Amino acid sequence: MGEGLKGKVALVTGSARGLGEAIARALAAAGANVVVSDVRDDLGEAVAGSIVAAGGSATYRHLDVTSAADWTDTVAACDQLGGSQVLVNNAFTMTMGGIEDETVAGWNRTLEVIVTGAFLGMHHCVPLMRAAGEGAIVSIGSMHGGAVAGSGRVAYQAAKGALSALTRAVAVDYGKEGIRANIILPGPIDTPVVAELDFVEQQKAFAATLPLGRQADPAEIAAVAAFLASPQASFITGAAITADGGFTAE
Ligand SMILES: NC(=O)c1ccc[n+]([C@@H]2O[C@H](COP(=O)([O-])OP(=O)(O)OC[C@H]3O[C@@H](n4cnc5c(N)ncnc54)[C@H](O)[C@@H]3O)[C@@H](O)[C@H]2O)c1
Repeated sequence: MGEGLKGKVALVTGSARGLGEAIARALAAAGANVVVSDVRDDLGEAVAGSIVAAGGSATYRHLDVTSAADWTDTVAACDQLGGSQVLVNNAFTMTMGGIEDETVAGWNRTLEVIVTGAFLGMHHCVPLMRAAGEGAIVSIGSMHGGAVAGSGRVAYQAAKGALSALTRAVAVDYGKEGIRANIILPGPIDTPVVAELDFVEQQKAFAATLPLGRQADPAEIAAVAAFLASPQASFITGAAITADGGFTAE
């Protein structure tokens, strides 16, 4: 990716660990000034610190993506840094449950973080992008919630489906203002949340059935995000890019 993002400010939500952390590192490696943001402040500070220690540019902001006030503060901080030319909608939480098991509270929380969080991010960052005449939005979807569904996680899939539609809608509305918006539909990724959901063995067994026969390393998905954020992807907008180890090819 070289220095393709030099001079750009890149805000990554939920980037204290897992895929978001890998995306923050990839964008910094491409030259961006990265705003690492999360609700896990200690981890987030450590990620920003290690990017700086490695010679990159990064700062950490506490940003609960469901808080309009946090968004106002964070986007003002981005503005001070020179804008917000890249926004990555990565933060998420999820409940595991089918249609009969899912609770209203679990449903609402999953949609609030994934969908409302991304809405607020775009709502606050698009004005800065318009002012700059450029912007790249990358949303992190899922292979589930794209064209195919998996079993037993209805809120997550509904949220990721809505995130795909939301990302496309923004692509259509703002393309002529130099703003691109794309979504990545990843397959299984080896991140900390998998153990928290007590899903490690199931995810490994599922990954073994993929054409590539394994989970993704977070860096493999982060490379796709860095590409979509970069000028190399200048004619790609409104796209859903699968990075699923071949799952949807079968
Ligand atoms: N791990 C997988 O197998 C997999 C597969 C497909 C897609 N994804 C997607 O990858 C993205 C990252 O997931 P991950 O696997 O790295 O999980 P993760 O739990 O390790 O990381 C998610 C991050 O989001 C943060 N977060 C949660 N609620 C937040 C809020 N309200 N405001 C701000 N930050 C918040 C968490 O603190 C955490 O740091 C998600 O969008 C997820 O849907 C993951």
